[in-house]
Amino acid sequence: EKGGYDSFMLKEIYEQPQAIKDTFRGRMLVDQGLIKMAGVDDHIDKFLNAKRILVVACGTSWHAGLVAEYIFEELARIPVEVEYASEFRYRNPVINEDDVVIAISQSGETADTMAAIKLAKENGAFVFGVCNVVGSSISRETHAGAYTHAGPEIGVASTKAFTTQITVLTLIALQLAKKKGKISTSQFHNYLVELESIPSKVKDALESNDHIEQIASVYKNAKNCLYLGRGFNFPVALEGALKLKEISYIHAEGYPAAEMKHGPIALIDSDMPVVVIATKKGHYEKVVSNIQEIKSREGKIIGVVTQGDIDVRGLADHAIEVPDTLEFLTPLLTTIPLQLLSYHIAIALGRDVDQPRNLAKSVTVE
Ligand code: M6R
Repeated sequence: EKGGYDSFMLKEIYEQPQAIKDTFRGRMLVDQGLIKMAGVDDHIDKFLNAKRILVVACGTSWHAGLVAEYIFEELARIPVEVEYASEFRYRNPVINEDDVVIAISQSGETADTMAAIKLAKENGAFVFGVCNVVGSSISRETHAGAYTHAGPEIGVASTKAFTTQITVLTLIALQLAKKKGKISTSQFHNYLVELESIPSKVKDALESNDHIEQIASVYKNAKNCLYLGRGFNFPVALEGALKLKEISYIHAEGYPAAEMKHGPIALIDSDMPVVVIATKKGHYEKVVSNIQEIKSREGKIIGVVTQGDIDVRGLADHAIEVPDTLEFLTPLLTTIPLQLLSYHIAIALGRDVDQPRNLAKSVTVE
């Protein structure tokens, strides 16, 4: 059942190229320059007239929502707010009839997310679900939705659910960007072509597995770990830190790289590994200068870099390469080494990666 892998988690990490492909298959018609998603197309006016999109989710699904915030705002120019479902449900939030609420949940059974959906519906919002489990409570409670086609995710630490959630949300953002006239037909086409190449690039990223295992052996006894990223990769930093906490029980925190100087930099010394997502995009130079600041305080740097990068490689203690892609698609690649890093650290510490202590696969109680 683990298909020759030692754990479900590792199997699920390796299933990502296929899971992403399965998620866009039939929806993304590259040759015709089209995206077809019944759940979106049937309610396109709701999406196009929305003054804003609210995302409600928990845990890793919340991180996928944060990535979506960056992608929706960049491509479709629709304001997005991302909320922890547990906060949203109790804080008397402002919900309008022209809001679109997107609820993201792998299991489709998370109690807080379910309660947030009910509240949004009571206030007249249109609620769209992004779930993995077919027929789950959330998929039935929402007005419409689009499934991720990740297949069953057994490991408690979410991996392929995350990347397929990002895939679905990217498809929606692209569809809305096109319908709103925010991107040209040729841009749209180029984006689809690039998205289609992501599964094979994820495969390339998985090739770093042995290198990452070796890095894990160096840092397995760390007490703390920082994860830094900017822009589209800030949420990836949060997700990398969550993964490490969950399965290795090492304390880890994710931060937007530039926030470091507002506090966390005080933590940095020679015992502090810092994972920095430094792909050669957008704010690359700024990330490089963040890395220099860490270096000068003797922090150990594990850089996630674009293939062929030399600048960060020269500064970092370790550099893990991912293929080049469009900036808004980089989270689908940069996530991979962070999953593998936490996996190998946890294994080196003898942890049960599939069933970490104190955690359940779906949190059906408050
Ligand atoms: O099933 P859901 O996506 O609603 O679950 C949300 C969180 O409980 C879940 O992502 C949790 O944080 C995972 N253990 C993360 O790996």
